[in-house]
Amino acid sequence: MGDRWAQRLMRNPFLAPVYEKAYRPLLGWAFMGFDLDHLRNERALTVRALRLTPGHLVLDVACGPGLFTRAFARAVAPAGLAVGMDMSGPMLERARTTNAHERARYVFGDATDQPFPDDAFDAVNCYAALYLIPDPFAAFDEMLRVLRPGGRISLMTSRESPYRLVRPVQSRVLGVTGLRMFDADEFTGRLRAAGFTEITQEIHGVAQYVAATAPA
Ligand SMILES: C[S@@+](CC[C@H](N)C(=O)[O-])C[C@H]1O[C@@H](n2cnc3c(N)ncnc32)[C@H](O)[C@@H]1O
Repeated sequence: MGDRWAQRLMRNPFLAPVYEKAYRPLLGWAFMGFDLDHLRNERALTVRALRLTPGHLVLDVACGPGLFTRAFARAVAPAGLAVGMDMSGPMLERARTTNAHERARYVFGDATDQPFPDDAFDAVNCYAALYLIPDPFAAFDEMLRVLRPGGRISLMTSRESPYRLVRPVQSRVLGVTGLRMFDADEFTGRLRAAGFTEITQEIHGVAQYVAATAPA
């Protein structure tokens, strides 16, 4: 029931128009432990983490209204392309109107069954979505599949509290909304096991930012 509630909210036509300017900054700010500086620099930091340069082909999984996709399009222009993929019609419609860019394309697709061939992208990103996807590791595996050897991956998701006493409360509160909390090692461990290198992890509040390089 929980994940259905969160997923339904993302498809609600009333959320898409206020997502970028109100919902994302407010919830993101709280989620990141009220770190305004990090929130302000999030897009630039992500472009850097993905090591985007002109000519790159980059995928933004669960792009919402395209706030990161457009930043990626600017970084890969004039010859590259940023593809934003999402399952919400209203979010994609908003992306196409407010975050249009000549080097950005927005497509409908399921993160757990991505409509792209293997090794297709130089870089793959997924922010603020793995915690609401019912099978997040299927989505994660798909991100690894479509990323080319030597490419960069970056993700932002939740991280459960390091304090054992807080965890049940946290899971209960967030469980109502359908948001899942991940162990701090859940993604870094999988990347390590898959042979990824240059793995970095930054924690801000209950958010974890992970980036890594695919094996060559
Ligand atoms: C909280 S928004 C994140 C948007 C953007 N990435 C950001 O960082 O602000 C979560 C997005 O994930 C999308 N989403 C959820 N499940 C998905 C799935 N299985 N495949 C593709 N997109 C999905 C939702 O439609 C929504 O637009």
